Amino acid sequence: MKKIAILTSGGDAPGMNAAIRAAAKMAQYKGMEVYGVRRGYHGMLMDEIFLMEGLFLSGIIERGGTALLTARCPEFKDPKYRAIAAENLKRRGIEGLVVIGGDGSYRGADLLAKEHGIKVVGLPGTIDNDIIGTDFTIGFDTCLNTILDAISKLRDTATSHERTILIEVMGRSAGDLAVHACLAGGGDGLLIPEIENSIEMLAFQIKQRRNTGRLHDIILVAEGAGDILEIEKKLREKVSTEVRSVILGHVQRGGAPSGRDRIIATRMAIKAIEALEDGEGGIMVGIENGTIVTHPISYAWEGEKKQDILDLYHVADIFSR
Ligand code: ADP
Ligand code: F6P
Repeated sequence: MKKIAILTSGGDAPGMNAAIRAAAKMAQYKGMEVYGVRRGYHGMLMDEIFLMEGLFLSGIIERGGTALLTARCPEFKDPKYRAIAAENLKRRGIEGLVVIGGDGSYRGADLLAKEHGIKVVGLPGTIDNDIIGTDFTIGFDTCLNTILDAISKLRDTATSHERTILIEVMGRSAGDLAVHACLAGGGDGLLIPEIENSIEMLAFQIKQRRNTGRLHDIILVAEGAGDILEIEKKLREKVSTEVRSVILGHVQRGGAPSGRDRIIATRMAIKAIEALEDGEGGIMVGIENGTIVTHPISYAWEGEKKQDILDLYHVADIFSR
């Protein structure tokens, strides 16, 4: 394989730049020509494809976001647009494509491979940690640390005012960020989409805590668990404490990537280039039990969802009492 392209797609995540850098450097080391695609599949469609050379990679390892920009591109779900995009790659002799994104981006890559023979490799770039086939996604660790910083700051004011603070965290329909943040941040309650939520139970927990002299309650709410303002409204009717809600929002997507995210991004990207060099394609790269692994790319939506989140949820629930 002599020419490859790299793109980032879907929600950006800290560490994507480390993956771009490692994939490009390793490919160039192996004598490949490396192209960048700006703005994900939208840019592929609009022929925003450029030879990655010079100082493009300089300094990006420590920057959040993606130097290739990202975009959502609903048109890519239409085969006629995928054909135009594929032609833009083929016209340059590009045979391989590294797609850094979530499972939605993987689906687009899979179709590109099936319909046009492009050898694709998916790298799990999303803060949600919701990709089957990897224990951790690129961006999850950095995002977790951002949430932990917010928890620490919010706990100060919650204690001063003896308040209950609900913190909404991202994760789309996954509770991974909320569970890990609750465990690592010493949270006092947790609502995630994977578990049937009970405001009554939460209210009972809060009352129990206050009866034992606690001065605050920090409750982690995964965005997929429901509308936090609705939850706040219902909780206010059941507890005597003052309740406030904080939606962390997109601050969770930024920031310099953690060392851990930079390392997993680098290790996964190296595996992607080695696979393309061996002529492999239609795969996703992940990390499982500390080992870099590959799966067929469809495993991201056909595989068995991880269950460990439920185990962690129960521990977080016990510790929050
Ligand atoms: P993520 O990759 O983070 O899951 P999205 O679900 O928004 O993000 O998908 C990113 C892009 O991938 C979409 O904007 C679209 O261009 C492409 N994509 C997503 N799902 C499909 C699909 N089923 N078929 C073709 N392209 C898709
Ligand atoms: O998939 C990453 C993510 O941050 C989700 O956690 C969140 O629900 C979504 O993207 C937000 O999408 P947007 O950045 O398009 O508002």
